[in-house]
Amino acid sequence: MEFIAHRGASAHAPENTLASFKKALEMKAKAIELDIAESRDGRLVVIHDDDLKRVAKMPGRVETYTAARMKKIDVGSWFSKEYAGEGIPTLEEVFKLVGQMAEINVEMKGGCRIYPKIEEKLCRLLKKQAAQSRFLISSFDHEALFHFRALDGDARIGYLLGRTSKSRAFREMAELKAESLNLSARQVNARIVSEAHSKGFKVLVYTVNKIKEARSLEKIGVDGIFTNFPEMKNDF
Ligand code: G3P
Ligand code: MG
Repeated sequence: MEFIAHRGASAHAPENTLASFKKALEMKAKAIELDIAESRDGRLVVIHDDDLKRVAKMPGRVETYTAARMKKIDVGSWFSKEYAGEGIPTLEEVFKLVGQMAEINVEMKGGCRIYPKIEEKLCRLLKKQAAQSRFLISSFDHEALFHFRALDGDARIGYLLGRTSKSRAFREMAELKAESLNLSARQVNARIVSEAHSKGFKVLVYTVNKIKEARSLEKIGVDGIFTNFPEMKNDF
């Protein structure tokens, strides 16, 4: 089973920061998940929420800040004083840091309805990277996935189920030529795993932070888990 460092090694360092991705690499994570949005000046930035309240105690939505400004916003202190001053990285910086040391699952937090050029920008940035098969592109925004697929016929796509019905999801995944069904630990069961497998899709489950839970998911055939504790794989 694959262990994917969720927002980096986010149990050990502030989520979606260079520090958390460095930690994940130190822990020899083979895959890293991160979330992206688009800044006011059209750069791809790595952040989970659509505002800065939780991680920086600042007002306003992400797309009202420039990338340069976000770089200087402290998104480390909320996690621990040790990480005071950690800024919001651009996706490009993370790609540089990770290189080919791990696969990267880029989750678009919203498509062009919220972030006007996010699919095009991501597609363009990916095309500049070596070993493009190490990227998995996912989103709860399925329109964004369709948009992305139209731009890139070869990309690996992960379909985040969210509130979509199973039948619609499988139909759309086939249209999208998706690789995996990504769903929460609350949604997964043996039936959905075998149905996905019978249709040729992998199943990835978030967020699994207990080894016991990881073991039972493996028993029902789950292919990978997103975890804040990527070192868990050493005891698995
Ligand atoms: O992609 C798996 C997981 O990250 C989806 O949920 O809210 O943690 O981005 P969230
Ligand atoms: Mg995510």
